[in-house]
Amino acid sequence: MKLPSAFNPDELAMFVIQARLALLDNESGNVEDDEPFFVADLGQVYQQHQRWTRNLPAVQPFYAVKCNPDPTLLRFLAELGTGFDCASIDELKRVRNLGVDPSRIVFANPCKAASALCTARDMGVTKTTFDNLDELDSIKQFMPNAQLFLRIYASDDDALIQFGDKFGASPEATTVLLERAWDLGLEIVGVSFHVGTGATNHQSFVDAMERAETVFNQATRIGHHLQYLDIGGGFQDAGFERMASGIKEAVKLYMPPEVRIIAEPGRFYTRNAYTLVCKVISRRCQIGNDKSNPDMLYQNDGVYGNFMNVLVEKEIMRPSLVTPALSLTDSRAESSRVDGEHWYSIWGPTCDSVDCVTRKMRMDLEVKVGDWLMYKNMGAYTMATSTRFNGFEAQHPVIYINRMYVMNSIDKVRGG
Ligand SMILES: Cc1ncc(COP(=O)(O)O)c(C=O)c1O
Repeated sequence: MKLPSAFNPDELAMFVIQARLALLDNESGNVEDDEPFFVADLGQVYQQHQRWTRNLPAVQPFYAVKCNPDPTLLRFLAELGTGFDCASIDELKRVRNLGVDPSRIVFANPCKAASALCTARDMGVTKTTFDNLDELDSIKQFMPNAQLFLRIYASDDDALIQFGDKFGASPEATTVLLERAWDLGLEIVGVSFHVGTGATNHQSFVDAMERAETVFNQATRIGHHLQYLDIGGGFQDAGFERMASGIKEAVKLYMPPEVRIIAEPGRFYTRNAYTLVCKVISRRCQIGNDKSNPDMLYQNDGVYGNFMNVLVEKEIMRPSLVTPALSLTDSRAESSRVDGEHWYSIWGPTCDSVDCVTRKMRMDLEVKVGDWLMYKNMGAYTMATSTRFNGFEAQHPVIYINRMYVMNSIDKVRGG
């Protein structure tokens, strides 16, 4: 196989995909030859981390494990020095097992079971969020040494998923909650909010910070000493710089200078680092009256697996056919492939008709059974949300690459 000559880091994933496909045998009938797989570029994660620290140097990131709990990714982030936002006992264990100090963890789920509170307490995790009176009673009983963040209502109406309906104390409730915490002898150390995942509107952060300022003042009047503001997650790759500069201005405007700002980014760190490669396992070409409909491709992963975002976030999927010359070892397929525009719908492997990855998309080549389709930007809420519905495997192999490492090595070779 030919090595990329003028090396472009974006081509590294494709190169690795082709190398793997060259090793697979389409005709073996073995499970391993039919499995989807990920290629994860940890160098891309590193670049996002650099982007974060460049644009929001005063905001400490606590990576939201729920977004993608891949153990190799978590270890990489732990080494980069991020904190972690955990939502469950399992996530707490994953992070603590890496040797991460409990002070680098925020248990950012406002509604927790007694067992979760006890696990956090026993691990030495202290930072956690709440937004209601009953949770305060549970915390008093099971985690009385907690350092509490009052989660307040915030919402970006344009976010991919809005969180305002589920979590966040309303402005009318905050004084009552702060007073109850004071009466129970619980320590409130900060305010948190989350404007919604996949936020697009920096004004929602500004509005939330204005509300947070009011809560800081209420808390101070009661006697609490607040030291933190947790601005949650929601950051996207596109438009991040603009969002960050709006946030910095709002922090200056609404927060006292000594307040420590933390955040819980998820998708910003992982989405563009993972590529998913799926195999076309069957095809139904339209015949007779059905000819006006696109031909149907069936692949080995769908909305009950790594494509749940098609349902939840209404994401439009745009796969590309992995370069045929290198991926299709099956000469039978190559010899009869028809060039030119083809329209397809793409379906997952389950027997459920909801399991549709895309209703209609154009390809510039005919796609055949045994071909592989590549989906970029599959690192957020994909393997984290996939299920075993219909008995299909939920977790797939991941091949790790590091574009930064390769670039540095090439530079070294060039430099002699
Ligand atoms: C409490 C909390 N923090 C952080 C996140 C991460 O959000 P995102 O991936 O949009 O950055 C989520 C997402 O659901 C969340 O619920």
